[in-house]
Amino acid sequence: MASYSELFDLDPQLVHLNHAGVAPWPRDTVQAITRFAYENARWGSQHYAMWMQHEDELRELARWLIDAESKDEIAFLKNTSEGLSLVAQGLDWHAGDNMVLVTEEFPSNRIPWEAAAVRHDVAIRWVSLHEAEDPEHALLELVDDRTRLMSVSSVQYARGLKLDLPTLGEALKDTPALFCVDAIQSLGSHAFSVKEAQIDFLAADAHKWMLGPEGIAVFWTRPEHYERLGLSQYGWHMTERAGHFEEREWSPASTARRFECGSMNTIGIYALHASLTLLHRVGIIEIEERIADRIEQLDQVLRALDCKILTPSGIDRRAGILTFTPPEGNSQHVYEQLLGRGVLCALRGGGIRFSPHFYTPAYALQSALESLQEIID
Ligand SMILES: Cc1ncc(COP(=O)(O)O)c(C=O)c1O
Repeated sequence: MASYSELFDLDPQLVHLNHAGVAPWPRDTVQAITRFAYENARWGSQHYAMWMQHEDELRELARWLIDAESKDEIAFLKNTSEGLSLVAQGLDWHAGDNMVLVTEEFPSNRIPWEAAAVRHDVAIRWVSLHEAEDPEHALLELVDDRTRLMSVSSVQYARGLKLDLPTLGEALKDTPALFCVDAIQSLGSHAFSVKEAQIDFLAADAHKWMLGPEGIAVFWTRPEHYERLGLSQYGWHMTERAGHFEEREWSPASTARRFECGSMNTIGIYALHASLTLLHRVGIIEIEERIADRIEQLDQVLRALDCKILTPSGIDRRAGILTFTPPEGNSQHVYEQLLGRGVLCALRGGGIRFSPHFYTPAYALQSALESLQEIID
């Protein structure tokens, strides 16, 4: 493969350090979308069987990405919020249950639970992880025999804390609490295993580290939970005999397709298929190592510039996010100046968030850091 940055058509004036926000599409993905658009314009749905084949292949790619047992366990929903809402609305809550959540979560992993808590008279136990010395311990300390669920982001969106999911999964395994993970800040940036982490539910949209478009998300749950997860969305596609339109009898599909109520986001499927094929070709370990190198490089220079790093240190605690405050603490001003100089980043968690991906070239990082230095000076 040529230099990884050549797989993208980013404007050379732009330094894209916002993969934790919305990522750019690789050229392969742009071509896949374009080809699909032309094919649809020319042939309509004549090649529907081929669309289905793409969908099937994408399920396998997603299975690979999360290390699930079977591609039949993968559902494609429209976003992370839909997946988490499906769990929040589908569980058989009882008044007096509680759930454990993180105070600083992105709203997608907070609001579905808050809505369910009000409806079912369930308590929420909040834990702040910003200052926690032992985040897993802080989370587990709140679990008791009425805890029905813990939901966390695998990597916190604002300051980038990476949780030790296997430790949480192992501890929760012997309790009544189910383990739900918003994996949007992980999938595509580092190796991930639902098996190793003993997760019960996972949701993640494609538009960050997976380098896919918005509006298509991976949703996974252990098949043993299918029956207990009440459905709230119905349609032709989620039935066991989807496509047999004349039949009046139906039952939910025995696979994860039961969560996909109607027609699929085929253009999104084509796009994500191309993006995940690229990630698969590069290899997730290579991606993980290259992101870690870039984070380390940024960390060293930011420290030398007297910036305060808000992301916890230690390779195990980091993924693709590095959040910092400039020496004078004026994050908003510095952020605006960075944007003005073509450094695409975000203002999050009380600081400036940089999130490079595996292909981000060294010269781009250097250019962003030089811009930062000029602004600070
Ligand atoms: C942790 C986290 N969860 C979810 C989302 C997005 O949710 P959705 O896919 O529902 O738009 C984001 C960012 O946009 C995020 O950082």
